[in-house]
Amino acid sequence: MVVLIQEVLREPAKAAVFLVLAVRPGSEDTARALLEDVAGLTRAVGFRAPDDQLSCVVGIGASAWSRLYRAPAPRELHPFRALSGAKHSAPATHGDLLFHFRARRLDLCFELARQVMARLAGHVKVLDEVQGFKYFDERDLLGFVDGTENPTGSKAVAAITVGDEDPAYAGSSYVVVQKYLHDLDAWQALPVAEQERVIGREKISDFELSDADKPANSHVAATTIVDPDGTERQIVRENMAFGSPGAAEFGTYFIGYAATPDVIERMLHRMFVGEPPGNHDRILDFSTAVTGSLFFVPTAEFLEDPSPAPTRTTPATNTADGSLGIGSLRRSRT
Ligand code: HEM
Repeated sequence: MVVLIQEVLREPAKAAVFLVLAVRPGSEDTARALLEDVAGLTRAVGFRAPDDQLSCVVGIGASAWSRLYRAPAPRELHPFRALSGAKHSAPATHGDLLFHFRARRLDLCFELARQVMARLAGHVKVLDEVQGFKYFDERDLLGFVDGTENPTGSKAVAAITVGDEDPAYAGSSYVVVQKYLHDLDAWQALPVAEQERVIGREKISDFELSDADKPANSHVAATTIVDPDGTERQIVRENMAFGSPGAAEFGTYFIGYAATPDVIERMLHRMFVGEPPGNHDRILDFSTAVTGSLFFVPTAEFLEDPSPAPTRTTPATNTADGSLGIGSLRRSRT
């Protein structure tokens, strides 16, 4: 037996489509059948443009799991927990399925999303759909380079991969998505030096501010999580800009993958409530969260053949060189 993982770790994409869906009652078989075929659909659309790196990652929400699968629920799968700080809130919004399509071209994401929705027509309700893009040189709409401190190689694998703590689902991952809307007028009224103190990095060069210059309520300070033993806990993000100039809507679609939702939840707590409470992330004074959902990202192997109850596996991603061998045959199960 071999373990196939979903294509969570990729080079940063230029375009993405995010779909959050609710599965209608009675449509579980149709949804599950589509999930079994989604890797094949991705190959069919993407193979014709291999340089443009089309990929699709599927997440399953807590309330959908037992409707779709007989297998026991993954240990840490639960609904997204809303947060309320003194000034800012993060709402929890429903989602049974998340599709994260990404590529170097939007048309590939669009076509795959179209094929998926054709299969699901009448069986799902679309709760949210966002077409995202990278702004110039890997920037978000606040004008800052976004994604720099993502872990790479074996650190990225370790950051996102479920291991022995839930052996039945080794090789899987968790993902949180949140849609943020920016008050760009207020942001642009801020001098660049002050924007840099909000983010914690220089705007043009992307260099991190020194500890002395970086405020405790900067975004980078708020999202840096260090365990008592000094270990930094990381996640893998692939945020995308989105918007509609005609409607004066400007946003960032946050997407973060992790081996456990706990790390992302700790970051969110520091951002919205603050540590100590009241020390909220200043990025929130210019960014409002309007959605929030948590999903489990099973292995590709599970999606394609969920019938047998999952058994203990060797984590597929723990290769000596830290490479992912994405979509390829992985180590044999022991
Ligand atoms: C309005 C939404 C957001 C925007 C515009 C944004 C933007 C940024 C930018 C520009 C950086 C600095 C460059 C980089 O390392 O990527 C950054 C870093 C980071 N962000 Fe966000 N972010 C957003 C939301 C979030 C959320 C919700 C989380 C986690 C729950 C998060 C986690 C992180 C982490 C872990 C880092 C790296 C910190 C470090 O180690 O230096 N971000 N973000």
